[in-house]
Amino acid sequence: MPIVPFDVLVIGSGAAGLYAALCIPSRYRIGLITKDVLSQSASDWAQGGIAAAIAPEDSPRLHKADTLQAGAGLCDPAAVDQLVEQGATCIKSLVEFGVPFDQEEGTLSLTLEAAHSRRRVLHAADATGRAVVSTLADAVRHRSNITVFEHTLALDLWTEGDRCQGVIVAHEHTLSWWPAGAVVVATGGGGQVFSQTTNPPASTGDGVAMGWRAGVQLRDLEFFQFHPTALKVSGAPRFLISEAVRGEGAHLIDAAGRRFAFDYHPQGELAPRDVVSRAIYCHLLQREADNPDCVWLDLRPIDDERIKYRFPNIIAVCQRWGIDLFQQPIPVSPAAHYWMGGIITDRHSHTTLSQLYAVGETASTGVHGANRLASNSLLECLVYGRQLQHLQVAASPQSPAPGVSETIGISPGEAETLSQIRSELPDIVWQGAGISRSAEGIETALGQLDHLRSRFTTLPITQRCLQCLSQPAQYTLHLEADTLRLWSETRNLLDLAHLILKSAHFRPESRGGHYREDHPNTNEQWQVHTRVQGDQWWT
Ligand code: FAD
Ligand code: SIN
Repeated sequence: MPIVPFDVLVIGSGAAGLYAALCIPSRYRIGLITKDVLSQSASDWAQGGIAAAIAPEDSPRLHKADTLQAGAGLCDPAAVDQLVEQGATCIKSLVEFGVPFDQEEGTLSLTLEAAHSRRRVLHAADATGRAVVSTLADAVRHRSNITVFEHTLALDLWTEGDRCQGVIVAHEHTLSWWPAGAVVVATGGGGQVFSQTTNPPASTGDGVAMGWRAGVQLRDLEFFQFHPTALKVSGAPRFLISEAVRGEGAHLIDAAGRRFAFDYHPQGELAPRDVVSRAIYCHLLQREADNPDCVWLDLRPIDDERIKYRFPNIIAVCQRWGIDLFQQPIPVSPAAHYWMGGIITDRHSHTTLSQLYAVGETASTGVHGANRLASNSLLECLVYGRQLQHLQVAASPQSPAPGVSETIGISPGEAETLSQIRSELPDIVWQGAGISRSAEGIETALGQLDHLRSRFTTLPITQRCLQCLSQPAQYTLHLEADTLRLWSETRNLLDLAHLILKSAHFRPESRGGHYREDHPNTNEQWQVHTRVQGDQWWT
């Protein structure tokens, strides 16, 4: 338990949490909580880069037009204005922090990605995220007003009436209530709810689930982006093969060596992501029974020296899995990549709950609409994290007097059931709410999910944890930190699965990242957002 209440608690140390913590006025005492180490996050895995209209032939107006086009009618134009207009200022501040973006002849080098009308993606080879996160993490460590708590898990928001007054946290074998004048949720996306995902293990949608349980309004949860090209090798993680590879000239080919993407869209492999992902999905459905379940990315049209300069990380990972990309194409197929939906926030990153803020992939700022333009996510983390420079913090509530110290434990049998639930869930969601959805498929998945949820609810560990989470006190944890994390993430993923499936069922049309094979067209009457609060769904 921290000795003095913090003015602000930031949950998450990806690009959003780190940058927000650095932008919050330094007069405030900040606690930064992260469930792994400081530098571990999806942001750290980002490859392609950060989009910003900084080239002379580019402009915020053109960047806005591309963003709106990708968003399929659901972007909030004012939110997009803020994104594209403040992009250059945020990039300037990253350069001042020391982020080593690639340069050519003394100017920042820019690449092209799908659905961008200009070369506007800044990069640091193919490990842009690592360059950004490691620089920001260093800056955070040097700030005297920020205290970092690694391996510290947020389980729930602590609310009182209509305000957030802290976070329920597991830290060093203790579960306790940490008060704060303001809380910033920056817990990233939820790709782990799908069995096929490019996201790291920590992307379990904790912030959205915590927000939902606290009664915060959520938006557009059915819109999930499937990246077309994740490595598809038996036993390998679904490592992302960056879109920048196609931007540099790689071809997407089928088993016959044909560039099939042009059958589906005139822009071929550089069509919007949802189009390319569906093209692969449809192409594979037509395949002969003995063909493999992947297509290939052929980098051989790109000059070898260019590949070595731009994609050292991709070369190394492919080599690790026995693929020499200079000689052979890379097997790939689509995987869940980015969640457009999340906690509704306004221009100042404020949620519908007083003193609660959300930034990064957890938030629904309105900039992505139904589909995100490549490399706009890191930019959103920065621009909307930066809004916290205007934060006004209410007085911190007092820490609750620690009640009787009680213990929480788990039996081996329960631990096994918990692991089973955790491993069965993502397949159900992939089947029900993957690239191509239907009312029937979603209903089947919801039925299977109900079964998993009731198994989870009846576990004694669940009963015990829920009882503790409802009563401010201090609890000693007589279980491994990993087990409590497994319990908490499974609880969050079950909530996420419910929210995504119900939202996918709610929207009987196809738009952006949400494709319904039983309603394959976009319906103008559905050019509206899906809002969710508690058990209410409305437009
Ligand atoms: P994250 O970076 O995911 O950070 C979340 C943080 O919250 C982590 O530190 C995590 O440990 C912590 N956390 C989560 N839950 C809890 C909890 N309960 N308690 C305590 N801590 C918690 N976007 C681009 O714009 N350009 C790209 O090139 C790009 N490439 C990508 C490549 C890959 C492989 C992936 C997966 C995504 C990519 N994206 C890219 C998307 C982008 O990286 C993410 O949307 C963005 O980094 C999200 O940042 P974030 O700070 O919101 O969350
Ligand atoms: C990629 O490098 O293809 C990912 C970029 C992004 O998700 O924005």
